[in-house]
Amino acid sequence: MVTIYGDKDADLSLLKDRRVGTIGYGNQGRAQALNMRDSGIHVTVGNMNDNYREQAIADGFDVVAFAEASRICDVLLILIPDEVQPGVFETEIAPNLEAGNVLCFASGYNVHYQLIGPGEDIDVIMVAPRMIGKAVRDLYTDGHGYPCLVGVEHDASGKALEIALGIAKAIGATRLGAFASSFREETLIDLFAEQMLWPGINKLATVYFEKLVENGCDPDIVATELHMSGEFLEIAKAMITEGFFKQLKLHSHTSQYGQLSRADGMYTPDLAKHVDDVIEEIASGAFAREWTKEQENGLPELEKLWKKALAHPISQAEERLDELRKAVARAHL
Ligand code: NAI
Repeated sequence: MVTIYGDKDADLSLLKDRRVGTIGYGNQGRAQALNMRDSGIHVTVGNMNDNYREQAIADGFDVVAFAEASRICDVLLILIPDEVQPGVFETEIAPNLEAGNVLCFASGYNVHYQLIGPGEDIDVIMVAPRMIGKAVRDLYTDGHGYPCLVGVEHDASGKALEIALGIAKAIGATRLGAFASSFREETLIDLFAEQMLWPGINKLATVYFEKLVENGCDPDIVATELHMSGEFLEIAKAMITEGFFKQLKLHSHTSQYGQLSRADGMYTPDLAKHVDDVIEEIASGAFAREWTKEQENGLPELEKLWKKALAHPISQAEERLDELRKAVARAHL
């Protein structure tokens, strides 16, 4: 069974006598910096010269360059996009670290795949919210928590886990629960969702749309049934309140029978082989190497994939259904 840490397991005092800084002030950086400040932690923001820097200044933070933040802070939360972290780490952060410093990541990726390797005298910890940045802030101000994963890759000080829990508390996560995890586990669950679960749903949804249109159904009606009505939001909510399977009781008997009798047949040997290949490429680092190469090449494949996705007739149906979209958003969001 997993260990889940709550507020009572975490101590903010470990942070109060240290200089805490964020590297970045984007989705997670802004939310986490604001939450930590409201939790009584003094936070310095490290950022490059861009709009995010202006936002941090407008929010009342001391903002310095990445290198300066790395020099003056004892605890650094690395909150810039994963793909730019290795370069910024090598040129701005690593040269300014001192023994006893703490590096905290919100994702396991770069450390797990050894794209970043801090020295032996540095604590390397992870506090990875399972929540988008905007909600990290909104939930905190509303008095709620959200789950996060905490992990320790290197414990130079002997206090690495306590510091991670202090950060999890300061950003509001331990109000709900910080799950004991690892950089490897966070990387696997994140990438496998991105490369198996969501593409699986994405592909089945587009095939659903295409087959019904091929069979003479109106694309706007199919898009409404698929996602534009907002019904899937209600089903997702019921998965939480009733249970993943138990929410089926809210559907008709015909629907219950159809869903339960047809699910296993979807998992054909070909699909099982594909899923095994996906997890193997993640676990072996083959995907990470492919993605690094794609970035070095200037992202030509990503651009092609985006073009293809946006050209799909689902996107055209969405444009025609703009009025409906606004009404559904008002009703459900
Ligand atoms: P973001 O895309 O919002 O990052 C923006 C920040 O990165 C700004 O401070 C900007 O100045 C800086 N930045 C952008 N390009 C840069 C460059 N080329 N060089 C240096 N700085 C640059 O990042 P986000 O989404 O907040 O992700 C930060 C970390 O949090 C990542 O490790 C991510 O995996 C993790 N995470 C993100 C979640 C999310 O909801 N977005 C959820 C949980 C974890």
